[in-house]
Amino acid sequence: MKLLVTGGAGFIGSNFVIKSLRVKKDLEIIVIDKLNYAAHPDAIKNLERCKLVVDDICNKDAVFDLVKEVDAVVHFAAESHNDNSLRNPYPFIESNIVGTTNILEACKNYKVRLHHISTDEVFGDLALDDPHKFTRYTPYAPSSPYSASKASADMLVRAWVRSFGLEATISNCSNNYGPYQHIEKFIPRMITNRLMGVKPKLYGDGLNVRDWIHVDDHIAGVWLILEKGAPGQTYLLGANGEKSNLEVVKTLNRLMGYPEDDYEHVKDRAGHDRRYAIDASDTIAELGFSPKYTDFEAGLKATINWYSDHPEFWHLDKEAVENSYKQQGQ
Ligand code: NAD
Ligand code: TYD
Repeated sequence: MKLLVTGGAGFIGSNFVIKSLRVKKDLEIIVIDKLNYAAHPDAIKNLERCKLVVDDICNKDAVFDLVKEVDAVVHFAAESHNDNSLRNPYPFIESNIVGTTNILEACKNYKVRLHHISTDEVFGDLALDDPHKFTRYTPYAPSSPYSASKASADMLVRAWVRSFGLEATISNCSNNYGPYQHIEKFIPRMITNRLMGVKPKLYGDGLNVRDWIHVDDHIAGVWLILEKGAPGQTYLLGANGEKSNLEVVKTLNRLMGYPEDDYEHVKDRAGHDRRYAIDASDTIAELGFSPKYTDFEAGLKATINWYSDHPEFWHLDKEAVENSYKQQGQ
């Protein structure tokens, strides 16, 4: 099988490429990635059966040329950070909406199977005491320019399925953690703060809840959908990992040898979603999805060890990332 992986030099994409090639010996991968600030091409550069094409999915001709060559496309490429989208939404509109349209047109043209990677953030947020979780039937209600751009992309995929019979699936996954995540994101920022002797910074009251899943479980879910998913269907991926940001920081402090309450509150995010929670029961029943990392503390410990062992991954960016947060009061 020959796959085109968009955004394969980013956090989830690179984990997908590395781990899929390791277990699937007849797999070939072409990555298209424009190598924005979140990319780390070194992680995939010398892999056998993997070719990296440095280009932008907004370049329609490049996308058409690559889609023509493959059996299926897994579409990770996106601008991915809410805080950045609040400062400048335009790259999100370009990459996440216009870029996705190019992928859809190319897949339609060459009749190529598409799996589109989306997020639970398209559903908006839940109250802390809401007994319901997100399902594939939850109406879309995105809050930020990032989640609105991802919701738009999902809607485009659905339109191409209905109007053109495109063989496409969508997954909406919860918050991922694991190796190779950019240090602008919550867990790697907190780990690398601690490694630099800086206190973790909690937005607002710190009681916002995220539903954490290890990136390897996300990847396993994507493969189940690629191999067994029904065309046109949406699958939710999550691992019952709900935790408040405060709980995450306290656990991280304890695991890294600091007092649990050694953190700071900083300015809240505008429009900050209160809670995300995924009900993955349809994906479990229909595809046998079964997350392996059920112990969040063990997964977090492994992630702390990875960032401690790989300063070359984050050291050069740390000062600039923190300066940018400082300007926002965060
Ligand atoms: P990331 O920012 O770490 O990586 C994105 C990659 O896409 C980067 O390598 C970047 O260079 C590339 N890219 C961006 N725009 C591009 C363009 N126009 N052309 C070519 N390449 C481009 O993001 P991530 O966390 O790995 O997220 C990957 C996907 O998973 C995104 O679609 C995101 O919405 C989705 N997702 C992420 C999470 C999460 O917790 N990180 C959860 C659910 C879904
Ligand atoms: P983030 O990793 O940006 O993911 P998302 O916004 O997609 O959920 O943030 C996760 C949570 O952590 C979110 O509630 C915002 C919060 N947060 C902090 O409290 N401090 C921080 O320094 C960052 C980056 C995020």
